[in-house]
Amino acid sequence: MEKKLVRIAIDGPAAAGKSTIAKIIAKKLNYTYMDTGAMYRVVTWYCLKHGINCQDEKACVAVINDIKIDLRPDNTVYCGDIDVTREIRTPIVNANVSYIAAMKGIRLVLSGMQKEFAKTHNVVMDGRDIGTYVIPDAEVKIFMIASVECRAQRRYKENMEKKIPCTIEEIREDVKKRDYIDSHRDFAPLKKADDAIELDTSPLTIPEVVTAMMKIINDKLGA
Ligand code: DC
Repeated sequence: MEKKLVRIAIDGPAAAGKSTIAKIIAKKLNYTYMDTGAMYRVVTWYCLKHGINCQDEKACVAVINDIKIDLRPDNTVYCGDIDVTREIRTPIVNANVSYIAAMKGIRLVLSGMQKEFAKTHNVVMDGRDIGTYVIPDAEVKIFMIASVECRAQRRYKENMEKKIPCTIEEIREDVKKRDYIDSHRDFAPLKKADDAIELDTSPLTIPEVVTAMMKIINDKLGA
């Protein structure tokens, strides 16, 4: 008998620590990690690079099929043969990505790729609409939250480590703005799925979140 696939959906607001945790969980389980936010970021980077206004839906959708997004197993991100791993995390991309992610024509293409991928892989996928739209029948759904201040501090620390210039005020405003745009868009907004388990990571360290997550996963899968 064919083994049933396991799909783990991790959603939540900007900078809640989803990707850090999702990568660790995927490695532990030997599943593929898919960072869906990186896909929206590559599209944003591409539009900015080509002088396309990130609020002009028609212009952005017109180039979506020219953009070759490549999420590699070592977690580097390529656009065609250009390594954009670092470039997609810069403040200018942060400031524009929610506009791109609000475009239905962009979402249909990217979520179509994500849905296809989830049909054939054991996957840990993180994003905003994974449990509600991309994999509504995921075996495990987790909605990660954390206070704005906590998320801003974490993202600031991460940027400093990666030598990405920014200020804490900038990050705080960006996190708030993206939360608002992501949860108020018409199509597949950021929202907790009714059957998702909510995990508040504000008071937790990374190892503590991993432990809590693994418990939720094992309980769900009956392991
Ligand atoms: O997780 P992140 O910060 O890298 O996501 C970047 C942006 O993309 C964020 O503003 C929300 C959006 N996004 C989305 O709308 N749907 C997803 N599945 C993933 C990200």
